[in-house]
Amino acid sequence: MKLVRYTIVSVMTVWFFATSCLAGDVFTLTKEEKELSKKKPVYPQTRFLAVTDTHFYSTSLGTEGKAFQDYLDNDRKLLVESEKIVETVFDELSRITADFVIVSGDLTKDGEKINHEKMSIYLRKLALSGKKVFVVPGNHDVYNWESVRFDGEATEAVANVTAMEFEKIYREFGYETALERDLGSLSYITEPVPGLWLLALDSCRWKENKPGEHPITAGAFSDDTLQWIKKSLVRSRKEDKAVIVFMHHGIVEHYPHNDKFYSDYIVSNHDEIAKMVSTFGVSLVFSGHFHSQDITLQKFKDPDRTLFDIETGSLVTAPCPYRIVNIMADQKIEIESRFLSSIPSRTSGFKEYSSDYVYKGTIKLADSALKKYWVSKEDRQLLTSQISKAYVTHLKGDEIMPDQAIIKDGLGLWGKFVMFMQEDLIYGWYTDLPPADNNLVVDLSTGEYFPK
Ligand SMILES: [Fe+2]
Ligand SMILES: [Fe+2]
Repeated sequence: MKLVRYTIVSVMTVWFFATSCLAGDVFTLTKEEKELSKKKPVYPQTRFLAVTDTHFYSTSLGTEGKAFQDYLDNDRKLLVESEKIVETVFDELSRITADFVIVSGDLTKDGEKINHEKMSIYLRKLALSGKKVFVVPGNHDVYNWESVRFDGEATEAVANVTAMEFEKIYREFGYETALERDLGSLSYITEPVPGLWLLALDSCRWKENKPGEHPITAGAFSDDTLQWIKKSLVRSRKEDKAVIVFMHHGIVEHYPHNDKFYSDYIVSNHDEIAKMVSTFGVSLVFSGHFHSQDITLQKFKDPDRTLFDIETGSLVTAPCPYRIVNIMADQKIEIESRFLSSIPSRTSGFKEYSSDYVYKGTIKLADSALKKYWVSKEDRQLLTSQISKAYVTHLKGDEIMPDQAIIKDGLGLWGKFVMFMQEDLIYGWYTDLPPADNNLVVDLSTGEYFPK
């Protein structure tokens, strides 16, 4: 009996150390991997489109009644208009010449099967314009137990999707033609144009979602997926393919103190992961999740590389953007941003309406957040508009720090203290880390960038 127990303990100890070494080892390069990483890849000429966080919502799930209003009171997205927004923007995208389109997750409001199915119809229509379309999931999309329909004062659960169902619904948008799949996540590799790999990474923690709980917002890769990412990057260098990563969560901080404020919006262990992908020659990561138009960069030495995290704002949140990306033979890349200006139900004044919607929605969210910190009604009235202005400025990108980012005049002692604790976030949102966010040119061979 003692021997059996000893054997079990020994096997478990060996297994534990073996798996922990495996996790730790992923960021350590062998001599051969170091050698492979020295050669910088050449990106082939291509033009593509980036769109994200469509948060598709079918109005058949309800748009009236107290329950829906309660939901909207804690939200800032143009959910009621989302189908018309998707339809209008996808129609615009169809008319733009490009090789492919990437969608960086949060395809649906809350992972409802009906929303995924309808979204896939619009993607299929877009693909008919001759572009390949690729998707990855966002934190709202898989095993989301908040998939509901609204009926008066009540909500009623509707079918969500499992990971297998997600892959099935979006089979034509990456999974069917994948060169390789990570079996432990919804990540895959595809080659949309010869010589270019898209490393489509599922950074979401849907495996941990539980009924009755809010789906996990934060992003992380399991040890196995990290091993798969590294194996894929090594293979890309061996086969001389240039790689673009696209994923839902950010990989580089998007404003000072991003790691302290809203760290759920950048993937866990992002410094090490950014370094790893950059080492193997990845210069571009396209992300979403925070809903802002924001490009940041991280520089690395040995090898001398620059990694750009190009976050695109949500299609259903002002300024309702998408990006056109043009990679040229001389390794310069042009990034242009366009913004939705009207939908059929609002042929004029859409920009003002959508800006006002997110501004007022954020005021409501800030108000309930401050309430949790026992901030008085008078102080909340002075603070919420300031918080909302900073957030909305960050969403649009190319932020300019105002002369007075925070006005504390008239605040009570507690209000001043709470604001003191939050002011790094307000300053952070107003701080535009380089490079420019909306329109710019990057020289991929040197990492230099210029306004467009
Ligand atoms: Fe989102
Ligand atoms: Fe998200």
